[in-house]
Amino acid sequence: MDSLLSQIYADVLPLVGQGKVADYIPALSKVEANQFGIAICSNDGEIFSIGDADVPFSIQSISKVFNLVLAMEYYGDAIWEKVGREPSGLPFNSMAQLEYEQGIPRNPFINAGALVISDMNQSKFATPNIAVREFVKKLSGNPSIQIDRIVADSEYDHRSRNAAMAYLMKSFNNFDNEVEKVLRNYFCNCALTMSCVDLAKSINFLANKGYSQLMDTQVLTPNETRQVNALMATSGLYDEAGSFAFRVGLPGKSGVGGGIIAIVPGRFSVCVWSPALNSVGNSLAGAAALESMTKHIGWSVY
Ligand code: DON
Repeated sequence: MDSLLSQIYADVLPLVGQGKVADYIPALSKVEANQFGIAICSNDGEIFSIGDADVPFSIQSISKVFNLVLAMEYYGDAIWEKVGREPSGLPFNSMAQLEYEQGIPRNPFINAGALVISDMNQSKFATPNIAVREFVKKLSGNPSIQIDRIVADSEYDHRSRNAAMAYLMKSFNNFDNEVEKVLRNYFCNCALTMSCVDLAKSINFLANKGYSQLMDTQVLTPNETRQVNALMATSGLYDEAGSFAFRVGLPGKSGVGGGIIAIVPGRFSVCVWSPALNSVGNSLAGAAALESMTKHIGWSVY
């Protein structure tokens, strides 16, 4: 594994810093672009890492996976009455399909879908953002994971688009709670700061038929785990899901903080981070690192 990571590092180093750090959330634009880390967590709990793998970063849309898993534990199949399971083929913050599809978002990983899941969690938990934070602390074994309140407030100050989606869904009766309250909780989830090592550990259950080695708990059933991985494979990288499948060939989920998680089922989980993004909002060097990884291991889910 260590030599695999050194090969990946050498392959992507020339790309680190290429692209653009997200600036539509002003607090994120201050992050230094020239950083890169990768961490692997094997199914027997061993960690391998290189570069800035211990630096905490804003997990952003990667939180949509934890949000969904938490909701699945409570709602089971009832989730799929409120949100679909199809790729959108559109940017993560697009509203175009929402109106003609009667307020049912295409999948839980676009913003509209994650807002519906947040609304469902709002109905179950007194403070859903604390529930998600405690969940990732347990999954990662790191009790010091925090919500970056500056990022969360910055997102709330620039919430118009997400708010518009939520109100549109409310007009179709696909949103139960007070919109502003749900938005606050959703932004807190996105503003969790975690490192590549934290994230690789936290998602390892997705590579291990739903079993978390660290928690010694069955987080999801093997069947639910397969479903989450299928959703990540088809919708985890938004309008780039197809080319990510083509280049990398693994279930993955990206965030505008520059992180990407990916799953090698039955073997290991991985998290890469490099803050500069390509034109659709995915980490440019991060995606290249995962492409290099599957090339070197000669394996993908396809
Ligand atoms: O709601 C937003 O726009 C952000 N908090 C999350 C977007 C995101 O990470 C999309 N990922 N590539």
